[in-house]
Amino acid sequence: MKLFIQTLGCAMNERDSAHMIAELQEKKQYTLTDNAKDADLILINTCSVREKPEKKLFSEIGQFAKEKKPGAKIGICGCTASHLGEEIIKKAPSVDFVLGARNVSKITEVLERPKAVEVDIDYDDSTYVFASSQDMGIKAHLNISIGCDKKCSYCIVPFTRGKEISIPTDLLVNEAKKLVANGVKELLLLGQNVNHYGVRFSTPHKKTNFTELLATLSEIDGLYRIRFTSPHPLHMDDGFLEEFARNPKIAKGIHIPLQSGSSQILKMMKRGYDKQWYLDRIAKLKSLLPNVGIGTDIIVGFPTESEQDFEDTMEVLSIVEFDTLYSFVYSPRPHTSAYNYDKSMLVPQEMAKERLSRLQNLHKQILQKKAQKEIGSIYEVLIENHRDDEGQTWSEGRSSQNKLIKILGRKCSIGSIIQVKVTHNDGGGLYGEFVRELSLEQALQANVYIKCINGSD
Ligand code: 5AD
Ligand code: SF4
Repeated sequence: MKLFIQTLGCAMNERDSAHMIAELQEKKQYTLTDNAKDADLILINTCSVREKPEKKLFSEIGQFAKEKKPGAKIGICGCTASHLGEEIIKKAPSVDFVLGARNVSKITEVLERPKAVEVDIDYDDSTYVFASSQDMGIKAHLNISIGCDKKCSYCIVPFTRGKEISIPTDLLVNEAKKLVANGVKELLLLGQNVNHYGVRFSTPHKKTNFTELLATLSEIDGLYRIRFTSPHPLHMDDGFLEEFARNPKIAKGIHIPLQSGSSQILKMMKRGYDKQWYLDRIAKLKSLLPNVGIGTDIIVGFPTESEQDFEDTMEVLSIVEFDTLYSFVYSPRPHTSAYNYDKSMLVPQEMAKERLSRLQNLHKQILQKKAQKEIGSIYEVLIENHRDDEGQTWSEGRSSQNKLIKILGRKCSIGSIIQVKVTHNDGGGLYGEFVRELSLEQALQANVYIKCINGSD
C-alpha cells in the first residue's frame, strides 16, 4: 500500500504529517510515494491561516480525484479540515474522510470508516505516544503542546486547534532520548506558543514552565542543539532570556513574532504587548547575546492600519534588524474577532500590497548591510547535506543562529560539527572555509569561546 501526502503551512503541520506517516507505516504497512497516481491513499494536510490555500483546496481535490488509481482513498486533514468539517465531503464527494488538526492520532482509525469526519477540537491527544518515524535524520521536530489559548484577533488557529494543553515533561524527555539514540543532534520544539508551556496538563503534573523544560532537555547526552518555535513576546521574561543566553545547547537563533510595530494595532490584534515592550525584550536579549539571530512574522494592512502605524512597524524593523522576515498581507478569517469589523475599517488591498513591498525592501537593505559584517566571522555548522560528484564538492548546514552556510570544496559527514570562517556572501547565503572539526564536547565549549572572541561575553 502506498501513501502520498501533501503538506501545506507551518512546522506544526509538518510534524502532524510526520506523525501520520509514522502511524501508517507502522500500523498499516504503508510506504511513501511522491507520485499521487501510484498511491492507495492520498492525504492533503491543509492550512487555513490565510484564505488563499483554503480556496485552492477544492480544485486540488478535483485534480487528485481525476488522477488517482481506482479505489484509492482521499483524506483531508489539518486546519481546513477542522474548520470546514463535513462541508468538505458535501462539496467534494470524492473525499473519503476528514481529519482535524487536533485529531491526527486517529488516522489509522478513520481510514477504515467510510466518510468519517473527526474534527473534535476538544479531543485531547497530549499523552498519545505516536509511532516512531522510520526515516530520522539529524534534525527532528518535537511537539511540546497542542492548541493555543490566545485570542489574537486575526488568527483562526485557536478555532482549528482548540485550547492549549502541554505534553507531559517525562513523555517529552523519553521521546527526545529515543530520537537522540537514533542519531538526532538537533531538536526543534514546536508549539503555537512554546513559552506558555506548563500552563495546563491533562494529567496530574508538577508545576513547571518552558525555561525548566529547556534546562531538562538540554541535559540529554548526545544532543547538540535545541531550537523552538514560536515563543510569544509577552511571556519572554528575564529568567527565560537568561537561560536562553546561558545554556550552550540552546541555539542562538530565535523567532519572535512581532505582527505589528504599532502599539495601537497591537492592541486591536489583542497581542498583549506594545511596541516598547517588544523593543525592551529585544534590547535585553541583545545585551546578553549581541550575535543572536532574530526572525519575525509581520502582518501588514490590518484593519485601520494608518501610514503612521505602518511607519512604526518600519521603525521596529530598522531598530531590530531581523535576520529573517515572514511577512503577510492581512487576510480576514472566519471565527476570528477581526472578521466582524466594519468593512470601512479594512485597508485597501493595493495599499496593503504596496506596504508589504516597502517592508520587504527595507528588510533586504538591512540584510545587505549586515551581510558585509559577516566576512571573517567564525560559526559552528551542523552539517545537514553534502555532495561530491560531477566535479562538485561541498557541504552545508546551519549555524547556531540558523544561518545557512556552505563550505565549498570539502565533503564533511552529515551530523558532524564544523567550525567555519565566512569568506563571502552572495545575498542568498553565506560561504565559508573549513577551520576544524569539533567533537560534541568541544563544540559545546567552543560555543562559549566563539561568543568571547566575538566580544559578547
Ligand atoms: N492574515 C495574515 N497573516 C496571518 N497570520 C496569522 N493569521 C493571519 C491572517 N489572518 C500570520 C501571523 C502568524 C503567521 C503564522 O501567520 O503572522 O504569526
Ligand atoms: Fe494565532 Fe496568536 Fe495563537 Fe499564534 S498566539 S496561534 S497568532 S492566536
